[in-house]
Amino acid sequence: MFALINFSYLTAAVFFILGIKGMTKPATAVRGNQLAAVGMLIAVVAALMHQQIISYATIIAGMILGGSIGVWLARRTAMTEMPELIASLNGIGGAASVTVALSTWLQASGAGTTGNAGWTAAILASVIIGSVTLTGSIIAVLKLRGTIGETGKPRLWQILTLVTLLAVIGGGFMFVSGVSVSPVTLFALVGLCLILGIGLVQPVGGADMPVVVALLNAYSGLAGAATGFVLENQGLIITGSLVGASGLILTAIMCKAMNRSLPTVLFGGAFKQPASAQGVAEDDFYAGKVKYATPDDLALLLDSARKVVMVPGYGLAVAQAQHAVKELASQLEARGAQVRYAIHPVAGRMPGHMNVLLAEAEIPYDQLKDMDSMNPELPQADVVIVLGANDVVNPAASEEPSSPIYGMPILNVHKAKTVVVVKRSLSPGFAGIPNSLFIRDNSLMIKGDAKDVL
Ligand code: TAP
Repeated sequence: MFALINFSYLTAAVFFILGIKGMTKPATAVRGNQLAAVGMLIAVVAALMHQQIISYATIIAGMILGGSIGVWLARRTAMTEMPELIASLNGIGGAASVTVALSTWLQASGAGTTGNAGWTAAILASVIIGSVTLTGSIIAVLKLRGTIGETGKPRLWQILTLVTLLAVIGGGFMFVSGVSVSPVTLFALVGLCLILGIGLVQPVGGADMPVVVALLNAYSGLAGAATGFVLENQGLIITGSLVGASGLILTAIMCKAMNRSLPTVLFGGAFKQPASAQGVAEDDFYAGKVKYATPDDLALLLDSARKVVMVPGYGLAVAQAQHAVKELASQLEARGAQVRYAIHPVAGRMPGHMNVLLAEAEIPYDQLKDMDSMNPELPQADVVIVLGANDVVNPAASEEPSSPIYGMPILNVHKAKTVVVVKRSLSPGFAGIPNSLFIRDNSLMIKGDAKDVL
């Protein structure tokens, strides 16, 4: 039976890997998701075949309760709130790891059967990473929702974090080495790690929060893997490691796309206002320099355009304009124009946000172009329509060394023949900085909701 269970876990792991591979391309993403779901089903069945499991009645009650909460949460979450949902799920994963590890250790300690140093180290890892993930995720959700803002005193938090970290290292060493192996030490460590999670995430700027969410996702996986060692459950070890590794890779990809290093994200504090924008009110920056147009003007421009590029951003998701953009594109194509969609890797609020949104409107995958393949083609574009995108098309990223986004790769839409920016006002994007694209000679702005304008 034991061999069959482990073989099932191995099979599940193969399905997970094939699933992740499928999710790397839009065309195979749905199949990838289905493969991963089959893998999860195999893993769940294997876990149920395990001997020391609690009663099936408790498991079914847990599945109904947890499943109902999951369905309720997923249904009420708007696409734009997805980072908050993912952060919440990471926190729940962390909480699960810490509670399972705690109860397993307390039970073993009560029975006088605590394992060797390796097993104790796994308990410790599970407790530390799980607790940090739990409170770190709670802070991330509150920051993403705007419930708590920038701290203003990142240094104080960093000192608190350092002190707590040293205490955790000291306490952890005492616990593993056997100097102080008691429930009090373990609970004190949990308390310290809960504070550590807050201290690590609180000083991070709101604009960097999605990167932190990806990192917390990796933590929740690592906590799960550690719990797998605690329970000697191969399925959990493999799944946790996959989540940990893919979360770390995603974190690295996001940092690269935003031109931020991980230490800068974690310890650098919030985005600072650029020197050029300091003390300069929005109205002064743009004063009289923005050329406004109407949807009719855009229609005239498009009438003679052969190459049109749509640049979706966060605002397209807010406006839910994915179907409207497809409708316009179909009309243009019917008139012989070529339409492409330029996708920046961090457009929107989560990786792949724009791909998912456009896929919802069944826009053909081969029309979605990534930044690297689109940039060389942008100078030949007759009209580029920027739909609720801002930071990802801000020329300051390549032209203003004092800008906080300087160095971030952008879509060079300012090099097109004409750029039409569709947004509701002159207010800034996620990074909170003005955008000189709006005052370029070849740039027009249509004020309004993206869906209405389209
Ligand atoms: P943003 O720079 O955030 O700009 C979005 C723009 O959409 C805003 O300027 C807003 O202007 C406009 N908008 C909002 N609602 C609209 C509506 N109904 N109709 C039309 N426009 C609307 O978006 P972006 O260019 O997609 O850049 C993403 C930002 O998020 C980057 O700074 C990126 O670093 C950050 N970020 C993304 C990720 C991932 S993984 N995607 C992760 C971390 C950080 P108005 O209010 O004037 O309309």
